[in-house]
Amino acid sequence: MRIDIVTLFPELCDSFLHASILGRAAAKNLFEAHCHQIRDYTKNKQKQTDDYPYGGGCGMVLYAQPIADCLREVQAQCAAQGRGRPHVVFLTAAGRPYNEGVARRLAACDSLTLVCGHYEGIDQRVIDAFGDEELSIGDYVLTGGELASLVVADSVLRLQPGVLAEEKGYQEESYWDGLLEYPQYTRPEIWEGRPVPSVLLTGDHTRIDAWRAKQSHARTAERRPDLYEEWCRTHPLTPARWKRSERAALVRTGEQLAAAAQIYSESWQMSHREACTPDFLAEHTPEAMRQRLEADRTAGWAFYLHSTAGKPDAIVGVCHKTGEIGRLYVSPAAQGRGIGAKLLAFAQKKLPEHTRTFVTVLETNRPAIALYLRMGYREEAGTPAVSPEAHQTFTNRVREQKLVRTQLRDSEMDD
Ligand code: ADE
Repeated sequence: MRIDIVTLFPELCDSFLHASILGRAAAKNLFEAHCHQIRDYTKNKQKQTDDYPYGGGCGMVLYAQPIADCLREVQAQCAAQGRGRPHVVFLTAAGRPYNEGVARRLAACDSLTLVCGHYEGIDQRVIDAFGDEELSIGDYVLTGGELASLVVADSVLRLQPGVLAEEKGYQEESYWDGLLEYPQYTRPEIWEGRPVPSVLLTGDHTRIDAWRAKQSHARTAERRPDLYEEWCRTHPLTPARWKRSERAALVRTGEQLAAAAQIYSESWQMSHREACTPDFLAEHTPEAMRQRLEADRTAGWAFYLHSTAGKPDAIVGVCHKTGEIGRLYVSPAAQGRGIGAKLLAFAQKKLPEHTRTFVTVLETNRPAIALYLRMGYREEAGTPAVSPEAHQTFTNRVREQKLVRTQLRDSEMDD
């Protein structure tokens, strides 16, 4: 790949591109980078690159002509190397947002030219004439496009084959799946009283991978709910096959109801601890939950108790009247085995008469929301907030989301 940077500060850009990992990769001819001085293409005596904006206003605007001539020179150099026309990107605060997806797209170009703006901007006519796109690296304004062009160059070049190959530690990191990185630790094992999470010292890579995945999910859900929602939408979940030892049975007997209430209580307390006061959590005893389930049953709900090797470990409820699925809880000890997804699919099958099934979930219950999104549920606009009385018991003003999934009737599926 060939990268050209068109700038008023070529030395600054050049020194970055020829240092560290990129410098080593350039020395091995894994890519070539050229930085061009816009000022060299001016035609006035003072080598002036900018002027006052038409229409008035503060700041200066870069002339079109020197940038255009510089871009023509880059095009000629690429052609002389037998390359096609370079893809030209202008870095401006008004551009479309840059992200890893764009980096991957640009990484596929044979030659990429990055043009750095300065002062108040660039004469729009040169952008219109030469630009394939305008990109911004974030919602803040830099004094110039150099840092932005280096951000783009760095993130694109690290994706070029061989650039990270010798830096073994980076290989895994170079795989971006839309989730944030899990936390990393190195020696010493205890630093200033802070130990490394013990799972990382076990040598058990199945457990380590599971821990890291959980950290990535939790971080992304908390810090970047927008990214996480997108990840869930683009990673649909197909429930695993039921194991021979798994069963789900309609709750009929008092004993089954008590087992369901026990799971409901434990799991409810765990998934709502963030949203509730400790007193409110403590009210959710197995007995209180049993009474709730009984009241729900009177109102038309049916509950199913899931067990593995005869041991109850999850519940789910369906309401035939409304098409609602609820009370989907997996006991804390059985979580992480895909039981939630299996039971949700099971509950959907119990409602063949409904083309729309729905769930309601507190917005703080992120693992549940992730499961529903991955299983094809989408938020219904304008969902009302939880009742005002409930607000007194929740630590924050939490909203309850209604998520809806459209399912085909069996007869429609046959068509
Ligand atoms: N030039 C000034 N601010 C910028 C930004 N946020 N992204 C790209 N180029 C810029």
